[in-house]
Amino acid sequence: MRIDGKVVIVTGASGGIGLATARLLGSRGAKVVLAARNEEALRAAEAEIPGSLAVRSDLREAGDIRALVERTVEHFGRIDCLVNNAGQDFNAPVEEIDPDDYRSILELNLIGALEAMRAVIPHMRRQGEGAIVNVSSGTTKMILTGSAGYSSSKAALNHLSLVAREELAPDGIAVSVIYPYITATDLERNAIGADEHSMAGPPPGIPPADPPEKVAEAILNLIESGEAELSLVPRRG
Ligand SMILES: NC(=O)c1ccc[n+]([C@@H]2O[C@H](COP(=O)([O-])OP(=O)(O)OC[C@H]3O[C@@H](n4cnc5c(N)ncnc54)[C@H](OP(=O)(O)O)[C@@H]3O)[C@@H](O)[C@H]2O)c1
Repeated sequence: MRIDGKVVIVTGASGGIGLATARLLGSRGAKVVLAARNEEALRAAEAEIPGSLAVRSDLREAGDIRALVERTVEHFGRIDCLVNNAGQDFNAPVEEIDPDDYRSILELNLIGALEAMRAVIPHMRRQGEGAIVNVSSGTTKMILTGSAGYSSSKAALNHLSLVAREELAPDGIAVSVIYPYITATDLERNAIGADEHSMAGPPPGIPPADPPEKVAEAILNLIESGEAELSLVPRRG
């Protein structure tokens, strides 16, 4: 899908990868809807990105997600693309995973992404075209101690995405998944378990973190190519 003139919802657009993506898509002529909870940051992004629209939304709340999509269609008349980027990290060994914390992570990283897909699909189907990019994680491609709560939420998102891709292809809707490598954002600071089990950046001997702008470029590539998957995890050797 060519991005110019398209209406794109970016969740988690108040900072990090989401804000970098919103900026890039806006600079390429997309009409970007900025969704997250931090209203002040959203208003600043709306003022900066021409033609954008800020809609405060908690992606753990199904009502907020439906209202986000309704507001988008009311304002722009259509919805071409969804970037399911809002997410939270969770650091704890399996034995110490608090089920309530885990439910909270699943509510955002998995159920929120599902609810957003369910809300946009009817509009895309009616239009005969659409693109959905789900932001997963490179941690789903490795066995990383302390990451099970987070990586399992994203691994479920991978499967949800790739099955949805098959189901929605006949409607002209391309569902894609991106696997970012460690990226220089506030993800670790915002993690559940950030204090006790923090993993501040790549360990020694591992390539340095990517800038969020690199992930934004990759998300744009996926929207435009409609390919199934794109990994930013550096190859070994
Ligand atoms: N950074 C990495 O190393 C890395 C690697 C692989 C994958 N990822 C994935 O990339 C995505 C973006 O993360 P990031 O690195 O940019 O982290 P970040 O800087 O912490 O940004 C997270 C974004 O998600 C939003 N968010 C969190 N909870 C939300 C909620 N309940 N409702 C709506 N929005 C919510 C935050 O906005 P508000 O707080 O304003 O709501 C913020 O805009 C996540 O899905 C993450 O899992 C990141």
